Amino acid sequence: MQQDEMLGETQISKVGVIGAGAMGHGIAQVFAQSGFQVRLNDVSMDFINSGMKRIDENLSRAVEKGRLSAYQKKETLSSISPTPDLDDFSDREFVVEAVLEKIEVKREVFQRLDKVCPKDSVLATNTSSIPVTQIASLVSNPARVGGMHFFNPVPVMALVEIVKGLQTSEKTVSTVQKVSQRLGKTPVLVADSPGFVSNRILCPMINEAIFALEEGIATKEDIDTVMKLGMRHPMGPLELADFVGLDVLLDVLEVLHREYQDPKYRASPLLRKMVRAGYLGRKTKKGFYNYD
Ligand code: 3HC
Repeated sequence: MQQDEMLGETQISKVGVIGAGAMGHGIAQVFAQSGFQVRLNDVSMDFINSGMKRIDENLSRAVEKGRLSAYQKKETLSSISPTPDLDDFSDREFVVEAVLEKIEVKREVFQRLDKVCPKDSVLATNTSSIPVTQIASLVSNPARVGGMHFFNPVPVMALVEIVKGLQTSEKTVSTVQKVSQRLGKTPVLVADSPGFVSNRILCPMINEAIFALEEGIATKEDIDTVMKLGMRHPMGPLELADFVGLDVLLDVLEVLHREYQDPKYRASPLLRKMVRAGYLGRKTKKGFYNYD
């Protein structure tokens, strides 16, 4: 497929989102609120239904605050059709993958998409640490794969990092940028470098906060207060670690450490221990803080 045979961004209306978890449900919501027809996929209807429930709750909150009418909420929900079957992506023009940050899982998804989706569709990945170039290599035409890195909570955060893999075409980059703008987000183009810009800066900062905690420099509350009041961060780094997920944080640090071979990216032993214990933050109701 030549670049100029690929769909122009203005023609895109049918979107597929794979993964209805923390990121995927928010991605599906912002697409639906921006007028796209969305198909939402996950491995089971249970996962999809729990993503739909979160979208419903987010929209209900917006209705309560007077930011959305009840009619708009209904319209938004009706433009999302859940499906556990990726064969239903055969007419999707633009797909965003937001599955687990495990290459085996992404491999299975991209190999299916390669077969099922129209040849001129764009395949975007919300990867936070696995290189876009590696994911693109899983399909027959890597030019149509680009990174579309959203931030949690997706409906609130204004940024999308657009990641250009080695073989990503200019056309794909431009489509992902324009689609991000249609979502009301600000796209920033970055190279396919470990951690991109966001996680290369954010994750070592959080890791440093965990080292400070481990060394007894201050309590967790005080470390968070320093960054909230001293630097005006909306959340302290330990609160944010819980919010992002300690496993996700460790995955990113491992990638930075392995790829740059620089000890400054070494994950703190406390972070490793917590992940081993299954204390992954908000999603397991226990991280640096308790969420019972
Ligand atoms: N989904 C949708 N909307 C949400 C939400 C959610 N999960 N959580 C909060 N909101 C909305 C609220 O409804 C509210 O909307 P309003 O302004 O229209 O009333 C607004 O966000 C503010 O929420 P609250 O008043 O309840 O709470 P806060 O003012 O404390 O804000 C926060 C919550 C937006 C999460 C804020 O604490 C924040 O910005 N934290 C930092 C988040 C961050 O750094 N995210 C990036 C993580 S890194 C990442 O995702 C990349 C990955 O690769 C690791």
